[in-house]
Amino acid sequence: MPPFWPKMVDMADHSEGLDLSKEQAVLMMCSTQGEGVPPAEARDFCEWFASDAAPRLEAVKFSVLALGDKSYTYFCATGKQLDGRAGELGGQRIADRVDVNREDWKAVDAWIAAVVAALPSLGLKTVAETGGVPTTAEPVAAKPKRWNKARPFYARVVALEGLCHIRKASDKDTIRVELDLGESGLQYIPGDALGILPYNCPQAVDDLVAQMGAEGGSLVAPPSWHYEESLELSGARQGDKLTLRDALCRCYDLRCPKPDLLRVLLDHLPPSARQPIKNGKTNGKLHIITSAKTPGAASNASVHSRSSSSVEAAEANGHRQRHTVPPLPVAKQAAKLQQLISSESAEAYLEERHVIDVLQDFAASMPPLDKVLACLRPLLPRLYSISSSMLEGPRQVQVTVAVVRYVSLGVERVGVTSTQLAERLQVGDLVPVYMHKNPDFRLPSDPATPIIMVGPGTGLAPFRSFMQERIIASQASGTSYGESVLFFGCRRRDQDFLYGEQLECWAAQGKLTLFTAFSREQGHKVYVQDQIRQQRGLVWRLLEEGAHFYVCGDAAHMAGSVETALLDIIAERKGSAAAANAYLDALRAQQRYQRDVWY
Ligand code: 2AM
Repeated sequence: MPPFWPKMVDMADHSEGLDLSKEQAVLMMCSTQGEGVPPAEARDFCEWFASDAAPRLEAVKFSVLALGDKSYTYFCATGKQLDGRAGELGGQRIADRVDVNREDWKAVDAWIAAVVAALPSLGLKTVAETGGVPTTAEPVAAKPKRWNKARPFYARVVALEGLCHIRKASDKDTIRVELDLGESGLQYIPGDALGILPYNCPQAVDDLVAQMGAEGGSLVAPPSWHYEESLELSGARQGDKLTLRDALCRCYDLRCPKPDLLRVLLDHLPPSARQPIKNGKTNGKLHIITSAKTPGAASNASVHSRSSSSVEAAEANGHRQRHTVPPLPVAKQAAKLQQLISSESAEAYLEERHVIDVLQDFAASMPPLDKVLACLRPLLPRLYSISSSMLEGPRQVQVTVAVVRYVSLGVERVGVTSTQLAERLQVGDLVPVYMHKNPDFRLPSDPATPIIMVGPGTGLAPFRSFMQERIIASQASGTSYGESVLFFGCRRRDQDFLYGEQLECWAAQGKLTLFTAFSREQGHKVYVQDQIRQQRGLVWRLLEEGAHFYVCGDAAHMAGSVETALLDIIAERKGSAAAANAYLDALRAQQRYQRDVWY
């Protein structure tokens, strides 16, 4: 394909020197928030694009990637609107819109492939024809905003506090992280989230470097998509490069590589292994070369040359300390790769593996480093609901983080950011952060309005912020606020009752009406939705008094069960399921039913 010169523009910066009607092709990518609205940063753009002020796009080719979450009612609504509107304005669609449910990378890859396939036939002008770098604005580069994910603020850790009593290894831990926002001027309101740019675990990076047979100190170019400024600010950059170790630590997700990696691995197997295979035989000669090493024996083998093409050398480079099953013979590695590439199973195979697992499975393949790096996905910032109020500490922000640990394929895995916060950070360390506005999860504007909050586990986080804000604001103004009801659920009172003392203190002072569901304290499970049903009279009374109803936490099961309980309560009073649905729709439309849920 001839070289094009794309420029990437944040929708937040659309007004800065961009004339869409003069572009040759426009690819729009946009997520959807809450009840089918654009993310806060894209709202101005979307309003403008929908208005009469939007330019005609007859000369413009376009395609839209819509990002969304099927657990919300209005799946990919913003992307659908942008796609429809670009068509109305006369634009020519070069590839159908793809609606992506959460992290469905396969759908993303399919859209990219369709767009890339369409580009060469569009008669677009190449870099040479347009005279090199276009002069029309590079808004993002020209005018960096302060403290966003490209330019995070390095906040100092003030406190790290375990919130749970761990009895056995399988118990979940949750921590409170408090950061000093210093003179950054960063501000938030209850409902907002804190974006954290994570680092991968250095040990995991070293293991991967060793598995690749590379040198951690060698210099590589940062990936084109990376938030380059943050690398500069953090001092990781050396000229226009950074060390492989830093790149793997800060830029790349070490989990679930792109499917292209399988093709790259197949292409770089020793030539003999790539012959057509019949019954485990290659050209009639059975390969019986397997690693003679025992697990853990090869931990220093990273110094071996990657350039060796012999099977034996490739096998000698293998690092199998994490392997619970012996690697396949090399001929079978080829067969397995071919089978994965030609079937639907590649996605499931990759999804539960980290990059190192895949490289270990096909250790006979020795692709060059840059080809492997090109198959890795970006390490994305993580968002955590803020669980403090600026009214309490104007320079501080607190988040409540569940520490993620799980076993898959017989290997213990840990969450990147949560274990970074819980295990690798100390008080005094710096963490790159930015604020993520969440305008669809807000306290009512009138403090007299009652609120009902449902937040089991770390779903409690924003409600602690809500309560701090309401209590301090009312004390400062001398006014009272509407009834505040919280449904909180956890395993046991003496294990994971997050902020239990504070919640019970507020309840004792009459500031909070608290209902708890300790799921594992009795023979049968008791969940927040059970408590909501028990309190049906209270819930209905407050709804009729204008209450706002909030749900935060697990989307997979909890949020749906809570909605069912709510609909049942409404149906009891309104006489039918249809009437209950209409009532809930009206609550949504009035922004009185707000959810912040995740998988
Ligand atoms: P469990 O782990 O004992 O099943 C916070 O994680 C709390 O949410 C825990 O008490 C957990 O209970 C509970 N929980 C698990 N599944 C749930 C569901 N489907 N609905 C509501 N709460 C649930």
